[in-house]
Amino acid sequence: MRKACVIGWPIEHSRSPMIHGYWLKSLGIEGSYEKHAVRPQDAHAFLRGLGNAGYAGCNVTVPLKEIAFDVADEKDASAIAVSAANTIWLDNGRICAANTDTYGFMTHLTTTIPDWHRRDRPVLVLGAGGAARAIVHGFLEAGVGEVRVSNRTKARAQSLCEHFGASVKVIDWDHHSQAAREASVIVNTTTIGMKGQGSLEMDFTNADEQTIVADIVYVPLETALLSSARAHGLRTVDGLGMLLHQAVPGFEKWFGVRPQVTGELRALIVADLEASA
Ligand code: ATR
Repeated sequence: MRKACVIGWPIEHSRSPMIHGYWLKSLGIEGSYEKHAVRPQDAHAFLRGLGNAGYAGCNVTVPLKEIAFDVADEKDASAIAVSAANTIWLDNGRICAANTDTYGFMTHLTTTIPDWHRRDRPVLVLGAGGAARAIVHGFLEAGVGEVRVSNRTKARAQSLCEHFGASVKVIDWDHHSQAAREASVIVNTTTIGMKGQGSLEMDFTNADEQTIVADIVYVPLETALLSSARAHGLRTVDGLGMLLHQAVPGFEKWFGVRPQVTGELRALIVADLEASA
């Protein structure tokens, strides 16, 4: 029986066991997906011991993604772009790492709004943490000519900009609303809007009607940002799809079958989010 798991500190709130458990069951695969609370100081040893413990690999969540990246023997382009890994698998005993947040976000965006790519306008990314890096990488890979990044702490936006080069430009946090009016896609990767974290105020009164607003926050599923965008007739992309799609490549690596993100899976997670709200 093949085994995988998710590690993080804390780990109780992870929905990954529910997602992978759904796929194992619906695909009739005899396998298991567990969760383990692993302290940062124990993460290196845990990852090195994956094979001996019988695991095909694991997901890695906060705050262990950078450690997983450092431990890995082989890193794919997505992990290198973000300097963090959320998906680990073993290949002849070697620890391989990927960051599937890029894939998760871009797949969800493209599935929800296939014609999102407009060549005449920049994309605006709010925030400069690991999720922002993954998403900036995704837009650049997709051929977006200019990605603007705005972050409360400007130095972090600047370092992200230096990492990716001339196609990424820094916008002062005080000017993000103005930059939003010029953007084709606006993505919130900050934690603002998350339950108990205040809300991101943005005035969409004069927004171009083609503007797309995405949020990676999924608790609540409809953030104040998304509901304001929707009230102004703009198209929106929620954060749950990224969570569901980022799980696909790992499952395929560990269990050998590429799973589907179905309406049924989404409904299962939505019900769980609502039950714990
Ligand atoms: P992750 O790696 O998961 O993306 P992170 O590194 O903790 O998470 O990043 C959180 C992001 O939310 C950061 O961009 C952070 O801004 P700072 O770099 O200035 O800390 C942003 N953020 C969190 N709370 C915020 C707030 N109240 N106002 C503006 N930005 C906020």
